[in-house]
Amino acid sequence: MELDLVIAERKSIRAFKKDPVPRELIEEILQRAIQAPSAMNLQPWEFTVVLGEEKERLSRLLLRSYRERRISCSPGAKGPLPAELSTRGEKSFEAMKPSLDELGLDFEEFINEGSCRFYGAPVAIIICINKIFSHHRYICIGAALGYLVLAAHSLGLGTCPIGLITAYEDDIKDFLHIPDDREIVIGVALGHPDWDSPINRFKNSREPLEQVVRWFD
Ligand SMILES: Cc1cc2nc3c(=O)[nH]c(=O)nc-3n(C[C@H](O)[C@H](O)[C@H](O)COP(=O)(O)O)c2cc1C
Repeated sequence: MELDLVIAERKSIRAFKKDPVPRELIEEILQRAIQAPSAMNLQPWEFTVVLGEEKERLSRLLLRSYRERRISCSPGAKGPLPAELSTRGEKSFEAMKPSLDELGLDFEEFINEGSCRFYGAPVAIIICINKIFSHHRYICIGAALGYLVLAAHSLGLGTCPIGLITAYEDDIKDFLHIPDDREIVIGVALGHPDWDSPINRFKNSREPLEQVVRWFD
């Protein structure tokens, strides 16, 4: 698939079919993800792929933790967002709202509980970094995540990055035997998109380029 088309079409998927994803296909996606650039080619990413009944157990664990502790998806900001930034989140909510209304779902519950369930995807990928690295190296994980979501789309699969799970890092590390000297940076739901679900109908827009680019000529 043409790269331009992959970039134009990709979007986060929040309803998946139950069909399992063959291991070779997951390997192909990860193989493409690790072609991302990284500082000094240190490749600081570490992936844990969770499948089958283990993925269901992980989802149940996260749902239980969420219901006990109620830590929600958040902007990850150090203070209140200025208006021009918070409107971006509101636009995203507005885009999703008709689909949620059609399904009779509440936004907060859908996003928080859905994230804990990896939106029903058969595959959950947990991406970690060795804590030896400074936060500057998170950008390498971001690059790999970008490659991963594009690779999955080009191979006919859907993804949703799941940042919420980092709030429940201790539970996940315990369950997946991830050592303490690793930090969970992001999770990814991966599977075959359920195109019949209204929730996969909308596509988020982006701010016009002039809002985010400054030229210094
Ligand atoms: C670092 C990161 C964390 C995210 N965490 C979540 C999450 O916890 N739950 C969720 O539903 N979507 C999550 N997303 C997906 C974003 O909501 C989505 O990328 C954004 O709304 C833009 O939409 P698009 O991916 O369809 O273009 C996350 C995306 C990124 C990059």
